[in-house]
Amino acid sequence: MKIIAANFKMNLTKKEIDNYLKEIDNKKINNVIFFPSNLYIPYFSKYNIGSQDISFKEIGSITGDTSIKQYLDFNIKYVLIGHSERRKYFNDSKYISDKVNLALKNNIIPIICVGETEEEYNNNLTKKVLKDELDEALENNITLLNNEIIIAYEPIFSIGTNKVLDIKEIENIITYIKSYLKNTYLLDIKVLYGGSVNLNNIGNLEKISNLDGYLIGNASLDAKSFLDLTSKIK
Ligand code: PGA
Repeated sequence: MKIIAANFKMNLTKKEIDNYLKEIDNKKINNVIFFPSNLYIPYFSKYNIGSQDISFKEIGSITGDTSIKQYLDFNIKYVLIGHSERRKYFNDSKYISDKVNLALKNNIIPIICVGETEEEYNNNLTKKVLKDELDEALENNITLLNNEIIIAYEPIFSIGTNKVLDIKEIENIITYIKSYLKNTYLLDIKVLYGGSVNLNNIGNLEKISNLDGYLIGNASLDAKSFLDLTSKIK
């Protein structure tokens, strides 16, 4: 069964979360991991939960940040690291290696987000960008790489835009990521696809043979249609 990561980003308030929880109650969604905003993580304690980020430090004076140790109090099992929005607004590319290190040391599964910009894609730089981002996340953490890691491939220009690459292209890129990680780090790793996954394109995306799951933003925000979407994922 594929992994489905539901990334709420900064959306949904308490009332909407309450309705959401009513809607998903008792539904078969064992393969879904929810990534609500920090404040709402405790409400999802019945489900698989992850955090959308962690601080690059384990503890200390960093106003506004949340430590992995604090997330552990709420039983998170996964963390998104290096989402393109974090890279863009918070200069996160600088901290990827430290964050992956903290996640692995604390037995949390990092979902490392990688992906190229439209300009890089047009200039045929996709593989180079992915290789650099993977190395940046992994090369200083070699000794911890026996723990589970997941990669999310998200072309940045596909996030929230409805511009999805041809499925053959996505399949080739996933093949590249998997073989690069196998050859360089001896890792067999699950790869998710993210970027405008929705009810209209899921039938087509499901034809990708080497995909292990999806990272879903917008289309995870409405519980009813999200459940519909999850029912179409095998
Ligand atoms: P989207 O977001 O599904 O709204 O494109 C995906 C993501 O940013 O992880």
